[in-house]
Amino acid sequence: MTASHPNIGFVGLGWPGERHAEGVIACSLGTVHSACDLNQERLDNFVTAYRPARAFTDFKEMLADPALDAVVICLPNALHYPFSLQALQAGKHVLCEKPPTMNAAQMRTLHEEAQKRGLVYYFGRQMRFSPGMQAAKKLVKERRLGEIYFAETMWVRSRGTPDGVDGWFTERSKAGGGAIIDLGVHAIDAAWYLMGTPQPRAISAQTYQKFPQLVKNNVFDVEDNGYGMIRFENGATLLFKVSWAANLQDDIPLSSKRGRSLLSTLIYGPKGSIKIIDAFEADTDNFPSPIVFFEEQQGVPAKVDVAVQDERGAALRAYEFREQATNFLRCIRGEEAAVNSSSQAVQLMEMLDAIYRSSQLGREVAL
Ligand SMILES: NC(=O)c1ccc[n+]([C@@H]2O[C@H](COP(=O)([O-])OP(=O)(O)OC[C@H]3O[C@@H](n4cnc5c(N)ncnc54)[C@H](O)[C@@H]3O)[C@@H](O)[C@H]2O)c1
Repeated sequence: MTASHPNIGFVGLGWPGERHAEGVIACSLGTVHSACDLNQERLDNFVTAYRPARAFTDFKEMLADPALDAVVICLPNALHYPFSLQALQAGKHVLCEKPPTMNAAQMRTLHEEAQKRGLVYYFGRQMRFSPGMQAAKKLVKERRLGEIYFAETMWVRSRGTPDGVDGWFTERSKAGGGAIIDLGVHAIDAAWYLMGTPQPRAISAQTYQKFPQLVKNNVFDVEDNGYGMIRFENGATLLFKVSWAANLQDDIPLSSKRGRSLLSTLIYGPKGSIKIIDAFEADTDNFPSPIVFFEEQQGVPAKVDVAVQDERGAALRAYEFREQATNFLRCIRGEEAAVNSSSQAVQLMEMLDAIYRSSQLGREVAL
């Protein structure tokens, strides 16, 4: 039976776990019911801030609660698959942070498990819900660009290699990869979603590890840069640039924690082009708008103002997490289809797998 006001349990209570809890509270469609983390301090802080009825350090104990309807998983990447699978097998709906899994084979298993059990599996990609993205999607739907044939997307940082608790981000066995699986998943998904999620056909990519001196952890066996091109079945192509660390120049805004940082996506059609900018990590608010639209007028591209709710910084993420929680909870209630569906998570992981395969082989690979 589908709960009308689902009880949600949260596992992994760092920055994303807290944002998801705030999203659930803000949308008023579900309850922050339980919380789980091995780290007692994080667990205590979460309980104080969001008042779940139950707190655990053992995920299996949390899952055994019959009152629990769904879990939100914000753990190191290697735990996404086993924890999502256990939750589905226990009859709980799942929202799991990005990357959905470590590879496409794992994601296919989760997709099938969720389908078989009639449960929602939902991957975390809150930026699909930003006001800039929603405004861009609307323009694309109104065919203001015509057929999108090309896109460029990037998430680049100049000095932003992450660590996480115990430095897991830089270890392949715990993270599945480096900058590509961490930031590339956001940048590639932003473009792919705007392009209408076309079927990927071939990928040529190269990853690099060039900044080992920035890593405190003893293990650093993943990439800190990755670049490449994806060809889609409909003939469209996508160029991507991703870096945790690179000697970026001053067209990329300064970021107090990351050196320089920018997530931006540009799509082109014969009638116009759209750029969406996410400067969440940048120190400046000095961007004219989160969306820039150029449309062909009298034979030349001209800038057109787009009405958009202009959220910045923490307010932007709060908006996105609330909208994402709304869609997830309405899916559980059977009222809406998943924007971040398990079938798209499979395709996304297939693209990430192919990026790593292409880099290893040194040539284009087919999907
Ligand atoms: N959507 C976003 O914008 C966004 C931002 C940051 C991180 N993330 C994703 O969220 C995930 C977590 O990232 P993070 O930065 O919070 O990492 P983190 O290392 O800061 O936090 C992970 C948490 O999981 C807990 N944990 C580890 N193993 C556990 C277990 N077996 N049982 C219970 N708790 C356990 C740790 O104690 C820690 O509190 C990653 O997959 C990351 O890619 C997404």
